[in-house]
Amino acid sequence: MARPCECRPRRIALARTRSLSHHIPRRFVDVGFDRNPVREMDPTVVREVKRFCRSIDERLDRGEGLWFQGPRGTGKTTLAMLVSLHALRAQRAVAIYTVPQLLAEIRKTYDDDSRHDYLDLTSRLASVDLLHLEDMAVARTNDWVLEQLYTIINDRYQDERSVIFTADVEQPPDLAQHVGERTYSRLIEMCGDPKQLSGEDRRIKVTGR
Ligand SMILES: Nc1ncnc2c1ncn2[C@@H]1O[C@H](COP(=O)(O)OP(=O)(O)OP(=O)(O)O)[C@@H](O)[C@H]1O
Ligand SMILES: [Mg+2]
Repeated sequence: MARPCECRPRRIALARTRSLSHHIPRRFVDVGFDRNPVREMDPTVVREVKRFCRSIDERLDRGEGLWFQGPRGTGKTTLAMLVSLHALRAQRAVAIYTVPQLLAEIRKTYDDDSRHDYLDLTSRLASVDLLHLEDMAVARTNDWVLEQLYTIINDRYQDERSVIFTADVEQPPDLAQHVGERTYSRLIEMCGDPKQLSGEDRRIKVTGR
């Protein structure tokens, strides 16, 4: 009897992700552990990220995530993109969004003549192996935003699927004000304590302007 190939679920997940914004932005396509700026970052944080990337398949299978926390220009996105790159190289389905961009995509599905359908988008967001969300703390919060974030995160929480995200907040618990207490609680269980980055804004330091 013909049995479905074991890679079938993976192929389906990859096909689903095709229309999502999963590509690595140009600035980050060449990031690597063996080159700057990662070589200059806090070795403790980099070591943990490396460990995560080395066992990317197991981590994603277990629904483990990561949270990169810290002020502007300290390397949060760089490290998160490194994780997404490893997931893509491992042939896993990845979706990358900034939170404001994702909320805009959802709003777009409300247009009557939109090709994008809300349920289609949310079910694909729920099914990718890794959902990478940038700038979790920058969206202006209202009930609608909190409800969308809760739905996205809770779907992944229930299915034990990985989320990685970056956020710039003073203290980790402050994130709850941006995403809501229940979403915050789920993110902490999925992603653990934040990987803390610190220091000056390297963008300003690099250009000297
Ligand atoms: N520790 C570091 N040493 C040298 N350069 C760094 C370091 N961290 C980041 N950079 C550089 O600073 C710039 C900003 O990095 P990145 O986008 O990862 O920061 P971020 O923490 O995500 O910032 P934001 O909160 O504004 O999104 C990039 O050009 C990156 O290469
Ligand atoms: Mg960033």
